[in-house]
Amino acid sequence: MSRIENRTAKVGLIGLGYVGLPLVLLFNEQNFPVTGFDVDTNKVRILTQGGSYIYRIPATEIQTARGRGFRATADYSLIDEMDAVIICVPTPLDEHREPDMSYITSTVQSIAPYLRAGQLIVLESTTYPGTTEEVVVPILEKNNRHGLKADRAGLDDPNAFFVAFSPEREDPGNDTVARCDIPKVIGGLSPQASQLAAALYGSIFNRTIPVSSPAVAEMTKLLENIYRCVNIALVNELKLLCLRMDLDIWEVIAAASTKPFGFHPFYPGPGLGGHCIPVDPFYLSWKAKEFDFQTRFIELAGEINANMPYHVVASVASALNRQKKVLNGARVLVLGVAYKKDIDDLRESPSLTIIELLQKEGAEVHYNDPYIPVVGKGRKYDLQTRSTPLEELGNYDCVLIVTDHSCYDYANIVKEAQLVVDTRNATKGMSASNLVRC
Ligand SMILES: NC(=O)c1ccc[n+]([C@@H]2O[C@H](COP(=O)([O-])OP(=O)(O)OC[C@H]3O[C@@H](n4cnc5c(N)ncnc54)[C@H](O)[C@@H]3O)[C@@H](O)[C@H]2O)c1
Repeated sequence: MSRIENRTAKVGLIGLGYVGLPLVLLFNEQNFPVTGFDVDTNKVRILTQGGSYIYRIPATEIQTARGRGFRATADYSLIDEMDAVIICVPTPLDEHREPDMSYITSTVQSIAPYLRAGQLIVLESTTYPGTTEEVVVPILEKNNRHGLKADRAGLDDPNAFFVAFSPEREDPGNDTVARCDIPKVIGGLSPQASQLAAALYGSIFNRTIPVSSPAVAEMTKLLENIYRCVNIALVNELKLLCLRMDLDIWEVIAAASTKPFGFHPFYPGPGLGGHCIPVDPFYLSWKAKEFDFQTRFIELAGEINANMPYHVVASVASALNRQKKVLNGARVLVLGVAYKKDIDDLRESPSLTIIELLQKEGAEVHYNDPYIPVVGKGRKYDLQTRSTPLEELGNYDCVLIVTDHSCYDYANIVKEAQLVVDTRNATKGMSASNLVRC
């Protein structure tokens, strides 16, 4: 505890992605000696050379961090030097849309041999309730070299190690809340684990929220994301109805948002994207089956949200049809492949599904995204295409706005294009015969 207070505690961050790398910088800013671990040796090389691979993090920030002692490595043997280890590795779904726990299990297998008494291990990856106690702790206890046990209430073992779960709550691209102002929920396996984790996170976050167990903290994160997923599905469904009724859902949401209590706005779109909202709810529905429980809201929301890219493609076809054109052979420019505005992340982006569906219908599809110069091979797609310059818009049969990046000049796009289909209300307030909102 004193090493945390005087900033000499050595902090290891495992998984230097969108979550792990910003955390590295926060601890580094507070003068903790930080070591970043990643199996991706290319990332380790870039960081070691003072570079960055995340758009929002300029290379200069990495260079400053390196000047303050930050190092990146793929060598797990350095784990035994660490006082605290924070795990931020991916938790995707597998091909059967079930939790893929392999990143967590392989990370924990790798660190177990280097575990020391007194170390604090924190899992941050979003996952189902029970993961920390049922998956992480058993692997650590079974595979460490000294027969160490995790500290639990009443254990009273001076050689124990400490375990906690603390979910990440970052909102990429959101500049309205400083990272340090996002309260940090912490669930320790024992009261002492909670205290240690709260002290550690309390040095970089302004508020920590202790809860009674890792499972409560795991469930808290899932509740937050399921709340978003279900509410987005609700407005997506109402948007489809509003389109039929010739009502503007965006105007409706704006009016409802003036209610000073009991209403929080969510917005429709071309489908869910990102590593979290389309994925995390299914971690819970999978776990729920173990308890003979069907999470019907999650399933229904998933069904509605998954249908949105199909709705977008049908809308493009019908807008072309009104211009006496067909989708087969049409030149379509997709604006934005990032899953939301002003970020460089295309994981689970609805644009990718939309591009694939358009291609299946025979369209010649191009895309432009200032944040994503190339779309190569992902887990579910292999598009191998490059961002095309934003010029000669009149040469496309349709310009399809999928991601409403702030840098686009929408008035000019509507002026130049033959047809604009807008899935995000990016053209709010504009009216033109070649403009269709869907
Ligand atoms: N990105 C977000 O906005 C966000 C927000 C909240 C929660 N989360 C959760 O945080 C976790 C991490 O997400 P992310 O967006 O940072 O993912 P990411 O893919 O950007 O980064 C994960 C990193 O872990 C590395 N990695 C994979 N296996 C490893 C291993 N065995 N050892 C060491 N490194 C390994 C990868 O190379 C990668 O650099 C996920 O569970 C995600 O659901 C993400």
